Amino acid sequence: MDHFERRGGVLHAEDVPIPRIAEAVGTPFYVYASATLRRHAQVFRAGVGEDALVAFSVKALSNVAVLKVLASEGLGADIVSGGELARARSAGIPGERIVFSGVGKTRAEMTAALEARIYQFNVESEAELRTLSEVASARGSVAPVALRVNPDVDAGTLDKISTGRKDDKFGVPWERAPALYDLARRLPGIEARGVDLHIGSQIASLAPFEAAARRAGDLIEHLRAEGHDIDRLDLGGGLGIPYGDGVTPPDPAAYAAALRRVTDALDVRLVFEPGRMIAGNAGLMIAGVIYTKAQEARSFAILDAGMNDLIRPALYGARHAIVPVAERDGDPSPFDVVGPVCETTDLFARDVPLTAPAPGDILAFKTAGAYGAVQASQYNTRPLIPEVLVDGDRFAVVRRRPSTEDMLALEELPDWTDRPAD
Ligand code: LLP
Repeated sequence: MDHFERRGGVLHAEDVPIPRIAEAVGTPFYVYASATLRRHAQVFRAGVGEDALVAFSVKALSNVAVLKVLASEGLGADIVSGGELARARSAGIPGERIVFSGVGKTRAEMTAALEARIYQFNVESEAELRTLSEVASARGSVAPVALRVNPDVDAGTLDKISTGRKDDKFGVPWERAPALYDLARRLPGIEARGVDLHIGSQIASLAPFEAAARRAGDLIEHLRAEGHDIDRLDLGGGLGIPYGDGVTPPDPAAYAAALRRVTDALDVRLVFEPGRMIAGNAGLMIAGVIYTKAQEARSFAILDAGMNDLIRPALYGARHAIVPVAERDGDPSPFDVVGPVCETTDLFARDVPLTAPAPGDILAFKTAGAYGAVQASQYNTRPLIPEVLVDGDRFAVVRRRPSTEDMLALEELPDWTDRPAD
């Protein structure tokens, strides 16, 4: 369920008509509904149980104002960089609700996370474990660790967003895990308390989640038999959401019930890292039509948003439903919806039914809250588009559009006057 509904034919974000935001902010922009963010946080927490840690995967939607809404619902943060740590902290998320994932944590990032007293480092290799041990023991602290194990489960999702197969770069191989826990026990500054896994994203069935959790349960029992105190199981994120493409993933309640059933007897604190499920349906990208044109075989609607603003279609072949913000009477005809970027892949979707689109019309891309704004770039020197947060009948720009001067401000001409001229 989302909070983007039509009233009198006009799409609203909660109680705010989208054309009103467009007038104030200018297209293109992202808009997020606080009510949807809150609802998803509540549904997820209720499903997995209040005692579990639900650490929102910040990479999905990292705007600080959004994180603050989620923090107020009791969510923590799953971070993958020092930058995301800073975001989580400035949104008021306490260290005890932060888990740190990722294959390439630097010493500086480890130090910052130790200073913030985070809940857990999800360690992905022996080299990382040894480095964390050095960094933590040098400052006299102990790093709580879960080893990310690779369960060799195929999540059945897009190849580019699968992470839990044995040839993916993530985690430590299953067979190596017991030896690494033994090593962790011997290393100073490390306290190995958990098992962590994450098998991929936009997963549309329960079976791979259950299989991975079962394998994790076997591992925990094995480790305990070897004398390790394992009291946490981090099941990662990955639950898919409907994109209007006919795929209907399980709902969060069914997902939570299945995973609780599989892990019930283990007596561990569960950790979850949902991203898309919380943020996906909570956001739209809004774009304006600049031109339309008819070629021999096809008609195009050319928008002011491009692949640099929403790269999922170009990168993964992902589909986002595209609908007019204001309905118009008449028969629709098929248009290829494209952006202004000088790349053939700057094509959002073919054959979108639109009724007499014209310059100035506004279109909405649905389900764009997750992995939308965060993956944007300034390719073609196009400014990152604003993000707007709605709450009831109010809206606020929570990230402004940079000016051209802002975009150029980090660049400098080299001062080579000290080198003698030839
Ligand atoms: N935990 C870890 C360790 C992850 O790598 C991810 C996502 C998540 C949690 C959150 O997964 P979610 O619940 O959102 O599926 N850019 C791609 C998705 C990449 C996902 C990367 N990892 C897309 O636009 O579809």
